[in-house]
Amino acid sequence: MPFWTIVYALLFYAATALLIGGLAYKIRKYATTPAPLKIPTTPAPVTRQGVVLRMFREVAFFESLFRSNKWIWLFGYLFHFGLFLVLARHLRYFTYPVWTWVELIQPFGKYAAFAMVAGLAGLWARRVLVDRVRYISALSDHLMLALLMAIALTGLSMDYLTHTDIVSLKAFFLGLMYFNWHPLPEDPLLMVHLGLVATLMIIFPVSKLLHAPGVFFSPTRNQVDNPREQRHLAPWAAELEK
Ligand code: HEM
Repeated sequence: MPFWTIVYALLFYAATALLIGGLAYKIRKYATTPAPLKIPTTPAPVTRQGVVLRMFREVAFFESLFRSNKWIWLFGYLFHFGLFLVLARHLRYFTYPVWTWVELIQPFGKYAAFAMVAGLAGLWARRVLVDRVRYISALSDHLMLALLMAIALTGLSMDYLTHTDIVSLKAFFLGLMYFNWHPLPEDPLLMVHLGLVATLMIIFPVSKLLHAPGVFFSPTRNQVDNPREQRHLAPWAAELEK
């Protein structure tokens, strides 16, 4: 096998293991962290179904962000919705035969990439131009935006500047998944795109990007507002009452 195929194959195996293992570890930690107090942000649903609906609106429409800041909502939503479509479009590199719905959304993927870039640009401008936000922005906030922007721009360059050999690329990734390796096309833009993606996968479980699974464990969002009907008793408090 060519040298770079071996390097990228090992890199993607390692990145996948770290991403899955890291996420499992963090999610387990979130799930077992006690929430001793009833603290849903009101007005809050008074039933379980209501909480499920609220969580759905939060994840699908970023409802609370919309209430608090329209600009961040606009750029954040553009970025995340674009990302969602782009990732869905990428499924064609990992599936054979390609699912019909993935084929159908292919044309939207390219516009989604522009939405992603516009969203990232807006979110980044906010960290530079708004004094209060600049003051609390850490280096990692900027690096995370830079990483996502670089992934999107190298991806777009492959769409519009120099095309890569998608058939060989797909053979490479299917080969990794079925442990039957095929050579990686050694195209510089693709190699940078993939190197950055692997970096993103590795840092994801130790970064603020964890807000994606984290939102589901947020007590202010996932609790039912029923402290009058049902007494909330944390396990440790129940121990003291014995
Ligand atoms: C192993 C994973 C990935 C592979 C193999 C891959 C491969 C590719 C390829 C070959 C293209 C060019 C498509 C074309 O010419 O039609 C592309 C485009 C793109 N990639 Fe990736 N990519 C991966 C992960 C990601 C991730 C995680 C992101 C975002 C965070 C991303 C963002 C983009 C964007 C925005 C484009 C341009 C729009 C599009 O063609 O969909 N890629 N990618």
